[in-house]
Amino acid sequence: MTITATQAAGPLNVTVNEMVHLLPQTRQLRALHTVIRDRHADLGRFVTTSGRIIRQLIETALDLLPYEPVDVQTPVGETYHGLRPAKPICGVPVVRAGESMEHELRAVSPGVRIGKILIQRDKVTKLPRLYYSALPADIDRHSVLLLDPMLATGGTALAAVEVLLDHGVAEDDIVFVALLSAPEGIAAVHARHPNLRIVTSAIEERLNENAYMIPGIGDFGDRYFGTD
Ligand code: PRP
Ligand code: URA
Ligand code: MG
Repeated sequence: MTITATQAAGPLNVTVNEMVHLLPQTRQLRALHTVIRDRHADLGRFVTTSGRIIRQLIETALDLLPYEPVDVQTPVGETYHGLRPAKPICGVPVVRAGESMEHELRAVSPGVRIGKILIQRDKVTKLPRLYYSALPADIDRHSVLLLDPMLATGGTALAAVEVLLDHGVAEDDIVFVALLSAPEGIAAVHARHPNLRIVTSAIEERLNENAYMIPGIGDFGDRYFGTD
C-alpha cells in the first residue's frame, strides 16, 4: 500500500509495506494525538497520554517478534497449545527521549533487559552525535526493540542501528519503535536497511526547514521532560 503521509497531504510518498507497521488510525488514537500535539498540553497530560500511545506501539512491536509453541495445562486439566517468545527481548532506548518508552516496555515485559545508546542531534547541523552505549554482551542473541519516539531525518536511527549491528545484532532482529515518523526518515532508514521493521503511530507530512516534523509535536524530549 502506498499512502501519502498520515493526512494524505504531504508532497512525499512513503510505502507502507510489511516493514512499516502503522497503528490502526482509530478515532481514539487520533484523540490521544490531539492531546499531545496541542502546544498548550501540560506536562502531566503530555506524559500520561504519550504513554498510552507508546504502550500500543510496544504491544504491536512485541507481536512482530518470533514465537515458539508451548503447551500449558489449564486449571480444568486440559492442554492449551500456546506460544512464547522464541528469543529473549532487549529494549534499547535512544537517550534521552527514548527513555520515555522504557517503562512502558518494562510494564508489559518485566524481565526485559535494557541497553542504552546516547545520541544527540546537533542543534545547528541536525546531525546525530553518538556519545555512549551500554548493551548486554550477548545482545546478538536477543530480539531488540530500538526505542525512540521521533524518526525525523533518520540520522539518529541510522546511527543507533549501526551500534547494534556492530554488536552483532542481525538487521531482522531489530524493530524500531517510533511514535512519530517522517517519510524522509523512513526512506533514509530503509535505503540502508531494507529489512528493518518500523512500528509507528503516525506518518507525518514532511520535515520543515529546521528538520522538525510537521504537523509534528515539537521537541518530544523537551516536552516529555519539561526542559524547554
Ligand atoms: C530527537 C529524537 C531523536 C532524534 C530524531 O532527539 O528523540 O533521537 O531527535 O531526529 P533525526 O531523525 O533527525 O535524527 P534529540 O537530539 O532532540 O535529543 P533528546 O532525546 O535529548 O530530545
Ligand atoms: N526531534 C523531535 O523531538 N521532534 C522532531 O520533530 C524532530 C526531531
Ligand atoms: Mg530533543
